[in-house]
Amino acid sequence: MKSQLTVVGLGGSLAEHSSSLAALKIALQGAADAGAKTDLLDIRQLSLPMYDPGAENNPPGSVRRMCDTIHKSDGLIWSSPMYNGTISGSFKNALDWLKLLSDRNPPYLTDKVIGLISTAGGMQGLQAVNTMEFVVRALRGWAVPLVMPIAQAWKAFDKEGLAQDAQLTEQLRALGREVARGSCQFALQPPTKADAAKAETEITPLSDEEARTA
Ligand SMILES: Cc1cc2nc3c(=O)[nH]c(=O)nc-3n(C[C@H](O)[C@H](O)[C@H](O)COP(=O)(O)O)c2cc1C
Repeated sequence: MKSQLTVVGLGGSLAEHSSSLAALKIALQGAADAGAKTDLLDIRQLSLPMYDPGAENNPPGSVRRMCDTIHKSDGLIWSSPMYNGTISGSFKNALDWLKLLSDRNPPYLTDKVIGLISTAGGMQGLQAVNTMEFVVRALRGWAVPLVMPIAQAWKAFDKEGLAQDAQLTEQLRALGREVARGSCQFALQPPTKADAAKAETEITPLSDEEARTA
């Protein structure tokens, strides 16, 4: 069993002052408060090229570093701005590159616990959080029940990334603590990883007839 958990934050936008990055940094502090080692993958700094299936065998260094950091993590916190009712293109592009984790052991995000944050200009950002949850499930991760869709983000943080509301800071930190707590459950039971791979192979697909009537 690991002596210390690692929680990695992935997110932010390409904007110079990014509210989704500000929120992510605060949530990571919560994970650190709970005893986790933390690392930040800032989408702007990563400067990833567009996902290219032809580059999978020889991916650029930025992609390789991101994938390795995520693979080694126990928990993740994702934070995307809401663009046109969903996640931003740059954030989705980062997620698409996680296809490179398909042949790792365990594959994709198996046994990783993931906290979700979105920042929206309008009154709600839940659509972006829901979109992220679809991806979490597709990549075999576990989403934390507490989510943080931050509305009217333009007034939630200042230019230095400080939250303007103590309650928002506390909620974001609580999300970070929950990711650390959830990750701990998996880290305490290492055999789960083998079980997860076995469970995948044991699933019998529905027949065409069953799928039609389901
Ligand atoms: C291309 C684009 C699309 C957007 N679409 C929405 C939207 O559908 N709903 C909404 O509430 N805000 C929308 N916004 C506002 C952003 O969600 C908001 O500014 C967010 O805080 C930006 O995050 P950032 O500071 O991390 O860049 C949009 C902004 C852009 C640039």
